[in-house]
Amino acid sequence: QVSRSEEARNILIQNDRGGYTIPTAGLYPYQWNWDSAITAMGFAEFDIGRAWQELETLFSGQWADGMVPHILFHKADAGYFPGPDVWGGTGPIPSSGITQPPVAATMARLIWNKDRSAGTPRLKTLWPKLRAWHTWFLKWRLDQGAVCVTHPWEAGRDNAPDWDGVMERIDPVGVGEYERRDTSHVDGSMRPTKHDYDRYIWLVQMGNRLKWDQAKLLEENPFRIADPTMTFLLLRAHRDLLAVGEELGLQTAGMAEEIALLEKGAATLWNPELKSYDSRDAKTGLWTGCISNASYLCWLAGLDSPDQAAHLERSLERVKFGVASYDPTGEKFDSKRYWRGPTWAFMNFLIGLGLEEQQHPLAPRLRAVTREVIRQHGFAEYFDPTDGSPAGGQSFTWTAAVWLGWAS
Ligand code: DGY
Repeated sequence: QVSRSEEARNILIQNDRGGYTIPTAGLYPYQWNWDSAITAMGFAEFDIGRAWQELETLFSGQWADGMVPHILFHKADAGYFPGPDVWGGTGPIPSSGITQPPVAATMARLIWNKDRSAGTPRLKTLWPKLRAWHTWFLKWRLDQGAVCVTHPWEAGRDNAPDWDGVMERIDPVGVGEYERRDTSHVDGSMRPTKHDYDRYIWLVQMGNRLKWDQAKLLEENPFRIADPTMTFLLLRAHRDLLAVGEELGLQTAGMAEEIALLEKGAATLWNPELKSYDSRDAKTGLWTGCISNASYLCWLAGLDSPDQAAHLERSLERVKFGVASYDPTGEKFDSKRYWRGPTWAFMNFLIGLGLEEQQHPLAPRLRAVTREVIRQHGFAEYFDPTDGSPAGGQSFTWTAAVWLGWAS
């Protein structure tokens, strides 16, 4: 009988493509940005050098303007669409043209704290690159201090109900014929709809046409949403980067002010009617009206909210197998469809870590439910939160990493 921990290590090793790890064979055959950062934490449990290497390989794809792409296409793979030619990334490695939530600095600090003598030289080299990435967000993505996403894939929460309003307003004219590959790996009922996919691709084509020029995109792109995923995770990552920079004696001038600005931005995401952190359309000023698992990242960002905690408690009462990615009492809740209901182990980890640091009474529950769902159902991409059944891709790297680094 192979233990879950052995299984988890084997998944990381099997999905290792030499310096970087793919999320899962078939469905996601490249290096994904935030997947890699979470994976590094898993590697740190048994191979600290490999953990640093995962982050270093990710930053080898950093663009001249500081952006770190959401996908690095190190080696071509016909099983994935949209590939490098559709994206037309302009960085040193074939890549996508958007980014993903910046969790790398937070994971780097955790890894560094496990073994400072091994980590200090690696982190010193990485630090200015992390800073340049964060600076890019501050330059291009702020709305009243909150951080915006410009494509649903950028938030990582691809088909979250948060984007429904703006997606409805986009007319994907000229998107043309294309062949989806995701639904040949995973059942279509667990994936975004064609309506959404047409718009994902249309947005990619626009970015490619504009050569990912951020100033032009700022004018043309109708998709600009201030989002709790980006805002809370950048706020947290910037706090980590500052703390580490001070300890290492690096140049941290201006960072405290940047953190204060992001704190103000985070406050602008509080929707008083919903009594929850929410996404706000930066183009229209309208709330999206969504209580999502990203709303619960406030604790990780160093904030507290009794109202948000009350929502979390109600959600955990309603569905027993983890934090639902969308309000389980909401009309749009769909327990199997990706970011419209399913629970994600790595999100439970990020939420749980924030609660643990604040010694919040809900903290032990998050770890316990995440441990239990993985113990019972293995290393799925995500899980149906109503019965725990595994969904999406299997042998999933970041689920294994969360087991090793936190849940087990
Ligand atoms: C996909 O292909 O659905 C991915 O989530 C894009 O990053």
